[in-house]
Amino acid sequence: MLVLGIETSCDETAAAVIEDGRRVRSDVVASQILVHAEYGGVVPEVASRQHLATVVPVLRGAIEKAGIAFSDLDGIAVTCGPGLVGALLVGVEAAKALGYALGKPVVGVNHLAGHLAAVFLEQPALAGPPPYPHVALLVSGGHTALFRVAGPGDVSQLGATRDDAAGEAFDKVAKLLGLGYPGGVKIDKLAAGGNPTALQFPRALPGRDDIDFSFSGLKTAVATELQRSGVPQEKALEDFCASFQAAVVDVLVRKSRRALVRTGLGHLVVCGGVAANRGLRAALAQAAAQDGFSLYIPTPRLCTDNAAMIGAAGSALLARGVRAGLELSVDPGLSVATLAAG
Ligand code: KG4
Ligand code: ZN
Repeated sequence: MLVLGIETSCDETAAAVIEDGRRVRSDVVASQILVHAEYGGVVPEVASRQHLATVVPVLRGAIEKAGIAFSDLDGIAVTCGPGLVGALLVGVEAAKALGYALGKPVVGVNHLAGHLAAVFLEQPALAGPPPYPHVALLVSGGHTALFRVAGPGDVSQLGATRDDAAGEAFDKVAKLLGLGYPGGVKIDKLAAGGNPTALQFPRALPGRDDIDFSFSGLKTAVATELQRSGVPQEKALEDFCASFQAAVVDVLVRKSRRALVRTGLGHLVVCGGVAANRGLRAALAQAAAQDGFSLYIPTPRLCTDNAAMIGAAGSALLARGVRAGLELSVDPGLSVATLAAG
């Protein structure tokens, strides 16, 4: 089964061809980073226009790289939410037009379900897919949550952030440090050379026993520290980044451990852009070795937004007979509650 995945929910125009739900035949991503960097963040209207300009070449590229023709496809999967409304529309309308012209089924995919599905794709970093049930930590620019995943589309939320998402905290702190957009990768790089115990930033653990997150206090602590001592340079900047990153990582690891204990499960999946963070990956690997749980983190390219994960999630829906009609629309606020419905 060959499925074309399409992803345009934010600042990446992406298309991929997935074979039998697991094998990545092609994976094309046109990033808009350079365009938005000028403004210090994603400008929704600019994102929509960029998607419009790149969607057709990206779709063609994915088909060519897969070595197939459009007519070889068995279905099309497209992100229909959550995300930027104008950006989502470009992908959904392209998918519907293609599906109609080719006479192939189309299915709408929840972007979060896509992130959760990334770990089911074949990749050198993973020996195989995670068994069900498992706990999943989703850490992206828009979401930070822990789930119990009982089966494909059978997802219940265990906890979530009460304010900022982890990726948002990385991006905001990077901005305060004058590192520009996008911030997560830049902090990751600088943190690698720094001392994570140089500064003591707060670890917010709202409600000792729950598995929710809060990152707004940490962001305020960073801003206060910068007001007090100015923006650090060179080695002090590396120490600052390492200390901030350690505070985020510490909380993510603690809450994931708690979720595993609470559910009695022994498998942890980690996904979303922040899962590309080297400090988080190392800390989770250490926790897995200590506690004896098995850890599944996609290769960094499949952690950040991509269309291969949408193709994977969509393949499962298409195989179950889910079909979207021409009335398929976008839902910028689509929540995790609709994961099961796909
Ligand atoms: O999953 P994603 O690509 O898009 C959303 O669905 O939000 O996640 C993007 C977020 C951004 O906040 C970005 O700064 C963060 O993931 N991110 C990272 C790293 N790479 C991306 N954060 C920390 N370390 C990284 N290496
Ligand atoms: Zn995402």
